[in-house]
Amino acid sequence: MSGGAIRSVKGTRDLLPPETEVWAAVEATARRVFSSYGYGEIRTPVLEETELFVRGVGEGTDIVGKEMYTFADKKGRSLTLRPESTAAVARAFVEHGMAEWPTPVKLYYIGPHFRYERPQRGRYRQFFQIGAELVGDEGPLSDAELLLMLVGFLGALEFDDLVVRLNTLGDEAARSRYRAALTEYLRPFAAELSDDSRRRLDENPLRILDTKAPRERELLAGAPRLDACLDEKSREHFATVRRILDRFEVAHSVEPGLVRGLDYYTSTVFEIASAGLGAQDAIVGGGRYDGLIADLGGPAVPAIGFAIGQDRLIDVLPESFRRRHLPRTPVVVTPAGLVDAGALLALAGELRSAGLAVTMELTGRSVKAALKRAHRSGVRFVVLAGEEELELGRAQLKDLETGTQTELPRAALAAAILEAT
Ligand code: HAM
Repeated sequence: MSGGAIRSVKGTRDLLPPETEVWAAVEATARRVFSSYGYGEIRTPVLEETELFVRGVGEGTDIVGKEMYTFADKKGRSLTLRPESTAAVARAFVEHGMAEWPTPVKLYYIGPHFRYERPQRGRYRQFFQIGAELVGDEGPLSDAELLLMLVGFLGALEFDDLVVRLNTLGDEAARSRYRAALTEYLRPFAAELSDDSRRRLDENPLRILDTKAPRERELLAGAPRLDACLDEKSREHFATVRRILDRFEVAHSVEPGLVRGLDYYTSTVFEIASAGLGAQDAIVGGGRYDGLIADLGGPAVPAIGFAIGQDRLIDVLPESFRRRHLPRTPVVVTPAGLVDAGALLALAGELRSAGLAVTMELTGRSVKAALKRAHRSGVRFVVLAGEEELELGRAQLKDLETGTQTELPRAALAAAILEAT
C-alpha cells in the first residue's frame, strides 16, 4: 500500500529537543516545589470508565457534553481518554481507601490530557497538565497553603506578571438559592440569549456568567449576585483565605463572575492568567470540591486542587528561565587527520566526566567541513586532536566565537571551556 506521509493527529504535536529540555526543567521545578510542601506523585491511567467523568465533571458541562474522546473497547465498555484528573484522583482516593491515610493526603500529577476542542494557540486536543490535589481538610488554611505553593512554583519559574482571580461559590444550599434567583432573572430574556446560554438556563445557569457575548454581559450587569446568596461560613472562609494571601503579598482580585466550567466546585475557586496570553485563557484553574468524593461513592471528604496547563505555561514562560534551561551546545571532538578512534573516545570521555556535553565527529569529514558544520549548528568549542598531539597529551582548542585556537594539555581542556562559558 502506498500513500502520502502520515502526519500527527490534528490538535496533537511532537515536542522536540531542545524545547523538551525546557519542559523537563519545568517539571523538575514542580516536583521540587510540590515535594517541599509534602506532596507525593500520583500516576493514574490515561483511560478511565466514561461514567467517572459523567458523574464527576458533570453531564451539563462542555467537557462531558462535547469534548471527550470516548470510545467502546473490544468488549463494548465505554472508555474515555481523561479530559482532566481531579475525578481520577478522587476515584483513586476511594479505590485505595486513602481516607485511612494520615490527612490531608497531598498528591500531584503531570501528564497528558485529552479534549476534543477546536485547536488554536494554547488549545490542543492532547495537552499537558501539572496538577495538585489536597484531600481531607476543609479549612481555609489549606486553600491558602495550596495557593501559596502554586504562586511559589510560578515564582520559581520567574513569572512576575500573573493575576490570581478568586471567587467563592458558597455551599450547595447557597448555590442552589443563587441558581434559582439567576434563572428567574434571566428567564424573561430567554429569547435574547444565545443557543448555548438558553440551554444552560435549564442545565447549568451559573455557566452563563462566563459568557463573552456583549448583549448577555449587559443583561448580567443587572443580575442578582452570587455573593448576596452566600452562607456565613463560606463568607468567613473566603475572607480568611484572602487575609492570608494579603499577608504574603499575593496580588489577587475577586471576580464575582468566576464560576469555572466543571460541576464539582464548591466554595473557593480560582484562575491564574498571564498578561502574555489572551485575557480569557487561564494558565491555571482550580478550586474546592468538597462533595466530589462522596458523589463518586466515597466518604464525605473535602478537597481542593488546581491544574496548570503546561502547554500554555511554556508558551508564556519567562525568557530568563528558558534561557537558563536550554541545553548548552556540546563540545565537538574532531580528529585532525588519521587518529585512533579509541584515543578520541577516551578524550571525549574525559571531557564528559568533567561535566561537559560532548559529541564526536565520526563521519570522516575534513577538518574544514567539520568546523563549518559545527559553526552552523551553533557549537562554540571544537577540540581538534591529531595523533601525535594526543600521544604527547595535548590537543587544540578552537573557539568558534572568538576565532582563537590554543594548544593545551588535555587535562586543562575542560577547565578552559568551563571558564569561558
Ligand atoms: P480546567 O480549568 O478545565 O480545570 O483546566 C486547567 C487548565 O488546563 C486550564 O487553565 C488550561 O491552562 C489547561 N487546559 C485545559 N484545556 C486545554 C486545552 N485544550 N489545551 C491546552 N490547555 C488546556 C481542570 O482540569 C481541573 N481538573 C482543575 C482542578 C484540579 N480543580 C481542582 N483540582
